[in-house]
Amino acid sequence: MPASRNKSAGSPALPSYVVKTSPIHGRGVFARRAIAPGDAIIEYTGERIEWDEANRRRDDDDPLNLTYFFTLNDGRVIDGGVGGNAARYINHSCEPNCEAIEYEDGSVWIHALYGIARGDELSYDYTLVYEGRHTPAVKRAFACHCGTPSCSGSMLMSKRSARYRANMRLMNTKG
Ligand SMILES: C[S@@+](CC[C@H](N)C(=O)[O-])C[C@H]1O[C@@H](n2cnc3c(N)ncnc32)[C@H](O)[C@@H]1O
Ligand SMILES: [Zn+2]
Repeated sequence: MPASRNKSAGSPALPSYVVKTSPIHGRGVFARRAIAPGDAIIEYTGERIEWDEANRRRDDDDPLNLTYFFTLNDGRVIDGGVGGNAARYINHSCEPNCEAIEYEDGSVWIHALYGIARGDELSYDYTLVYEGRHTPAVKRAFACHCGTPSCSGSMLMSKRSARYRANMRLMNTKG
């Protein structure tokens, strides 16, 4: 968990977020009050499962049916759909105002990257890797609707990006 959690912005009795309908997609999470840069907003909770089990749980006909999965550094997955909290409703953005940080104890927290104003939708970059061919159907399924000026049009990391290649190197090192 975060070593020093900035509690200046509120008390646990009053969460700094609220779940509402989002212009990006379905439900989203919004700031209920101003949030300071670096604040730990919410832990990403849910059942921790092996990737094999995650594969069993998803519907292979629907690549988007990974909806509430968060992939951990050790290759396991948090299934926010089982025992998860509001963090599972945070949408992806190409210009996010939050980041997901995985701590050494394995916990994952959503932190504010910048100061966030009351009413703003919270978002982070899903950094989604899709190793299969990015066919038109896959591109459609993962189309990004974040609406930011620099939106890439996709929630998937581009295979040409340095970040994708670095991720793949890391995954291959881990076997
Ligand atoms: C973790 S859920 C986020 C909560 C979701 N909006 C809901 O109502 O359940 C992730 C799913 O939300 C949708 N989503 C999230 N960010 C999106 C974006 N920027 N553009 C399009 N769809 C998005 C996709 O269907 C994705 O698989
Ligand atoms: Zn986008």
